[in-house]
Amino acid sequence: MSIRLGVNVDHVATLRQARRAVYPDPATAAALAELGGAQQITLHLREDRRHIQDRDVRVLRDTVQTPLNLEMAATAEMVKVAYEHKPNMVTLVPERREELTTEGGLDANSQRESLRKIVKNLKDGDLPVSLFIDPDLDQVRASHKLDANQVELHTGRYCEARNQKDRQAELIRLVDAAKAAAKLGMRVAAGHGLNYQNVQPVAAIAEIEELNIGHSIVARAVLVGFERAVREMVELMHAARR
Ligand code: PXP
Repeated sequence: MSIRLGVNVDHVATLRQARRAVYPDPATAAALAELGGAQQITLHLREDRRHIQDRDVRVLRDTVQTPLNLEMAATAEMVKVAYEHKPNMVTLVPERREELTTEGGLDANSQRESLRKIVKNLKDGDLPVSLFIDPDLDQVRASHKLDANQVELHTGRYCEARNQKDRQAELIRLVDAAKAAAKLGMRVAAGHGLNYQNVQPVAAIAEIEELNIGHSIVARAVLVGFERAVREMVELMHAARR
């Protein structure tokens, strides 16, 4: 099985919103990402609209040629947005206004009832659903019970591990969660905090079909250009798979 790169263009919008300007446009970045080998474009429409705006969802839906993955909170407002724009995948993520970025996975156990309704509502509209969860077997099983098509494993703790021993332990959690999810018939993605230094051990996990990466690619793109930043990430991922 090969591995795909989903490029998250949120932080192109972050740069634009820093000045409330009209540039840089995430749609331009998405086109360059596709030229560089991205096989999916990912965006997170946050409830506070701090980076991606409603207009971006519309423009990206019209212009992106690869599948579009919409990350969103599990709320009625966002379900309406998903119904309107029909992304190829909806990734449900936890959202807290004060956080700098998505800090942990969904709790598919304690939020079971509300998540069940939202997942069903989305799937009834032919919108496949991915749940962004911590690499934890209970969360994998709960996601399966919720009828998710896919799980996206949160790689934040792996990326933030301070030493080799902790990093290895986090990698094993990712491997175990990926295997369990695949065995239950779900597709497996992963992401958050991945960069050019730490991506390869995660990309080497055979059950993982997709990585969603944003911040490190946008940061490199500022210096070397978007297409090259994406191409370099794709090459690292494919090399890890060989
Ligand atoms: N996957 C999910 C579900 C996310 O919420 C994010 C951050 O928005 C990412 C991947 C990308 O994380 P990063 O920007 O750290 O690469």
